[in-house]
Amino acid sequence: TSDLLYLYNGFWYAPEDLEGILAAQQHFQAQDTDIILVTTPKSGTTWLKSLVFSITNRKQYTVSDQIHPLLTTNPHGIVPFIEQIYYDNTNPDVSHIPSPRLFATHVSYTMLPESIKTTKCRIIYLCRNPKDIFVSMRHFGAKIISPTNPACQLIPVEEAFNKFCRGVTWFGPFWEQALEYCELSLENPDKVLFLKYEDLKGDIISQLKKIAVHLGCPFSLKEETEGVIDGIARMCSFEHLSNLEVNKVTGVRSLWMVDNKDFFRKGEVGDWKNHLTDSMVEQIDQVVEQKLHCSGLTFK
Ligand code: A3P
Repeated sequence: TSDLLYLYNGFWYAPEDLEGILAAQQHFQAQDTDIILVTTPKSGTTWLKSLVFSITNRKQYTVSDQIHPLLTTNPHGIVPFIEQIYYDNTNPDVSHIPSPRLFATHVSYTMLPESIKTTKCRIIYLCRNPKDIFVSMRHFGAKIISPTNPACQLIPVEEAFNKFCRGVTWFGPFWEQALEYCELSLENPDKVLFLKYEDLKGDIISQLKKIAVHLGCPFSLKEETEGVIDGIARMCSFEHLSNLEVNKVTGVRSLWMVDNKDFFRKGEVGDWKNHLTDSMVEQIDQVVEQKLHCSGLTFK
């Protein structure tokens, strides 16, 4: 979009996000049992929220009545974004949320509230091929009515792409953030689990097991044979979530100034092939090679 972004400590933020992040650094008090889901926008945050919510709440709800995290009257959903909780620089009480509390954020590790780093709370980072992120973001940007862009205007695609490649995008640069969490997951795997959208699409069952182990609540053999893991995968599938009534209607606008339905588009790996020109592909491949080469982080 043509939104205003600020550069702060090496990352780009919308003004309201930056305000929320700085307030969260002051006020957010993590608990040992908290679970923090970190993504760049359009990496599959909504999917990850539902998967983790379903895993941690599987004893309270049977698989058939799992509720989707967006299905709630709370403007931030059952898994609120930390930065959005503090948007207007207030300090709302979040201590009443039942444990384990789930929070999402798009923030780099260095900018997270200190207590997230010092407590035993767990972090799950979900990464996605930046080409698909760009395409997804471009479509999503056309839906957002933000305070600084009320008319929902998009800048030309070439300009947006150049900015994306230079890291000038919501919470960008993508690679700096992904690298940071990738390294942390290697240094401290108990703290940070690093996942890829493409792997979730490729084998959701093994990824669900991995998440459950990371969160200290592995699936039992009984649960496995009774189909609990399959059930969660089905409940959180693109087909199921996007067909829930609450995610089909317009005018809900429960999270930000978008409808729930705007968080569901195609849900595929490799849609970039339908949108990026050869020269765009060459340009972004060069950036990815330059920035991520040493880390071994690649995308299918
Ligand atoms: P596309 O635009 O490529 O379809 P986020 O939740 O971080 O905003 O990411 C949105 C992206 O995740 C969109 O990608 C959306 O379609 C996809 N998505 C949402 N729910 C999904 C699900 N259950 N399974 C797979 N992809 C999903």
